[in-house]
Amino acid sequence: NNHLVIMAGGVGSRFWPMSRPEKPKQFIDVLGVGKSLLQLTVDRFGSLFPIEKVWVVTSVSYKELVKEQLPGIPDEQILLEPCMRNTAPCIGYVAWKIRQRDPDATLVVSPADHVVLDATEFRRVIEEGVQFVKGTDKVLTLGMTPTRPDTGYGYIQSGSSIELNEIRQVLAFKEKPDLVVAKQYLAEGGYYWNAGIFIWDVATVVKSLREYEPDLAATLDRMSEKFFTEAEQDTVNQLFPLCKSISIDYAVMERMSGAQDGDGGLYVLPGDFGWSDLGTWGSLYSQLDKDGSANAVVGDHVTMIESEGCVVRAPQGKRMVLQGLQDYIVAEDDNTLLICKKDQEQRIKEFSEKS
Ligand code: GDD
Ligand code: MG
Repeated sequence: NNHLVIMAGGVGSRFWPMSRPEKPKQFIDVLGVGKSLLQLTVDRFGSLFPIEKVWVVTSVSYKELVKEQLPGIPDEQILLEPCMRNTAPCIGYVAWKIRQRDPDATLVVSPADHVVLDATEFRRVIEEGVQFVKGTDKVLTLGMTPTRPDTGYGYIQSGSSIELNEIRQVLAFKEKPDLVVAKQYLAEGGYYWNAGIFIWDVATVVKSLREYEPDLAATLDRMSEKFFTEAEQDTVNQLFPLCKSISIDYAVMERMSGAQDGDGGLYVLPGDFGWSDLGTWGSLYSQLDKDGSANAVVGDHVTMIESEGCVVRAPQGKRMVLQGLQDYIVAEDDNTLLICKKDQEQRIKEFSEKS
């Protein structure tokens, strides 16, 4: 009774113009390997979760994309949100639903926008994590060794002596610290990045949302009266917008860290399986193979001349010739072209809003 929950309702705004609200990055073949990030996510868990145990929570507008990309998944396991309320309501919705059918279930909650290079080691870690939390109130996070003071991640303070693959209680969890604090964490040592994957029993999800976000839990209680009935979607459309918009990291993880409560609490398993969050063009650049001039190109007819350090993405069949560019992002999708310096990528959302 282990279930995989994939959160696939984000919009990926920093990946514009490849990622757009009509078709965000999780539905796109970002790496140019013939599969979308969502499909790669399901594949990565492989035999651990047969498709009947996979749940996808997404926006109502992506229903067809999910069905098309994951044809085996039962309709009632594609959960459709009428609006974005971030990950706490998303996880709440699916947990309240799964527990009606399987109250003893263990959930592996995963984002849909990651890259993992060593899937075998990844599965080993997930299996270990599931065994660790099953039948307990524990919540397990996966810790990734930080390589830079990135402010886009959650930071897990674990105690300095903790080794890879050793599970420990989390001392503190800080979601997206500012740069000064992130630098301090790196200098101090004993911190991991939160990989964004959470392993916990469905009963623990329900219990912790009741404790930390009682209003959200009350709304989910009301919604759940109609789950698995014809009225489910209408009820969700009506009540889901009332949910507070908050991520699970702020709603639960930050508050749970350090709290000792029976056998419960927040734990971390530091792993090493070639993890990376494909959040930006820069992170994609670091994942792709480079040519002799350190250009990373996705596209079948792209010619690079006297250019270096660029990341280029061209639509299928599009002929592109680039000359004399250094450290640029060049990305075209449908009728939108972006040419932007790599070190300005954090402004891409602003650029897209101007267009
Ligand atoms: N269904 C649904 N609804 N999914 C959502 C929503 C929503 O409203 N918002 C985000 N998601 C999905 C995204 O598509 C993504 O797969 C996942 O939830 C995580 O959301 P992000 O918006 O990408 O989170 P983040 O990257 O800023 O931060 C999280 O992940 C980091 C690691 O990648 C946090 O957990 C950080 O602590 C963590 O370090
Ligand atoms: Mg992310």
